[in-house]
Amino acid sequence: MIINSYRNSTLKDEFKTHHTSNQKELKVEMEVRSVYLKTFGCQMNQHDSENILDLLESINYKFTPDPKKADLILINTCTVREKSEQKFYSLLGRIKKYRKNGRVLLGVGGCVAQQEGERLLKKAPYLDLIFGTTNINRLPELIEAARITGKVQIDTEFQENSHSFPKSPCSVSSKVKAYVTIMQGCDNFCSFCIVPFVRGRERRRPSGEILAEIRKLVEMGIKEVTLLGQNVNSYGLNCSGELSFPELIREINRIEGLKRIRFTTSHPKDLSEELINCFGELEKLCPHIHLPIQSGSNRILEKMNRGYTREEYLSKVDKLRRVCPKIGITTDIIVGFPGETEADFQKTLDIVTEIEYDEFYSFKYSDRPMTRASQFTQKLPDQEKSQRLSILQELQKPITIKKNKELVNKKLEVLVEGKSKKNPKRLTGRSGTNKVINFEGPSGLEGKIVRVEILEAYPHSLYGRMV
Ligand code: 5AD
Ligand code: SF4
Repeated sequence: MIINSYRNSTLKDEFKTHHTSNQKELKVEMEVRSVYLKTFGCQMNQHDSENILDLLESINYKFTPDPKKADLILINTCTVREKSEQKFYSLLGRIKKYRKNGRVLLGVGGCVAQQEGERLLKKAPYLDLIFGTTNINRLPELIEAARITGKVQIDTEFQENSHSFPKSPCSVSSKVKAYVTIMQGCDNFCSFCIVPFVRGRERRRPSGEILAEIRKLVEMGIKEVTLLGQNVNSYGLNCSGELSFPELIREINRIEGLKRIRFTTSHPKDLSEELINCFGELEKLCPHIHLPIQSGSNRILEKMNRGYTREEYLSKVDKLRRVCPKIGITTDIIVGFPGETEADFQKTLDIVTEIEYDEFYSFKYSDRPMTRASQFTQKLPDQEKSQRLSILQELQKPITIKKNKELVNKKLEVLVEGKSKKNPKRLTGRSGTNKVINFEGPSGLEGKIVRVEILEAYPHSLYGRMV
């Protein structure tokens, strides 16, 4: 069967031109097949998965949410914490039964694949494909080779050039908002973190390419972009002739038709005054920052190799709130880092009480391969880590609720994303501060910014009425 699966939009066609002619030939020769893809992990992985599906669509693979019906089963993995890796192995155990020799292929990509490479075959000898974090572009070739030869195809070699950037603006799962990768990799080597080993050295994408992609996205109807990188604040640092991160945001702010700009993740040590000032000046930059603190104890921050003290962190939070009083601040916290004493943990509790985050993500420390912290002594028992985690989470609960309740009777601007999944009679969207807001309203508002008066506050969302 000869089917051309290119989508109708000429814009999208234009952006397919970066696929090689080889891939185009594959496309016309292949019949329509279905792919199931499960994604673990961060926004970077989610965006990689959007790119995987987009690329596979160009060789006639359509997404199916049902692995039983798939001709190709892919898992895009995360290894940042032990638990994320365990979740992947448990899914693999459940899903492997759907693989059928030569007919249904099973492939693993992303961070676990990058970390383990060929070693994955010891645990899962039935795999057909193993691809790393920078080898997504090679997937069509690898799939074809696996089908023809019946042998496992492995490519986890780092491609540290700009071609490894996911850069197709076709790859958006929402009609309203999109991710845009601005950098990849990380050079910070926080002692607990595996990312520098599985995502490689920091690479910056040229600003011209980023701006061009955002303009195309806006032409396609996208209203909000989230700039992605492991440490976006270091964009353009030590790089003469290139825009700094605040300069890049200023340029993006000028793009007509774009309504909102977000970015993630920020490293506190590289959060400059210039960037802080952007929150007070740029009308499209959303008043929200995710600023991972990891610990409130200077002793632990040093052992983590984070490059800032609690005092420096507090002073940056102060400045952010002075420049933009309504700014929403969220964070990541690790409890039970090796050698964390009761007193260290108390410092984390104190800073959480002092800062009053809008929300946070908290984790029990887990050893990751290759990291310095995995070699540290004084590891804490799991029970102690669990106890600290629940104390921390209990401390935050009333703070989150209090912050949400403060918004009742206030009118917030909401970018409408579509119907609420839980209650399709309602619309859903986010405030600039990144709060989920559900409300009743007519159809056709998707992509519009509307004002909503908040009536009720819940722990993870707000309910309101359009005004
Ligand atoms: N153990 C626990 N949490 C970790 N994180 C990263 N590495 C580890 C680890 N070894 C957390 C950090 C980071 C988030 C993405 O995951 O808080 O900001
Ligand atoms: Fe990991 Fe630290 Fe890099 Fe973030 S900044 S990805 S925590 S090494």
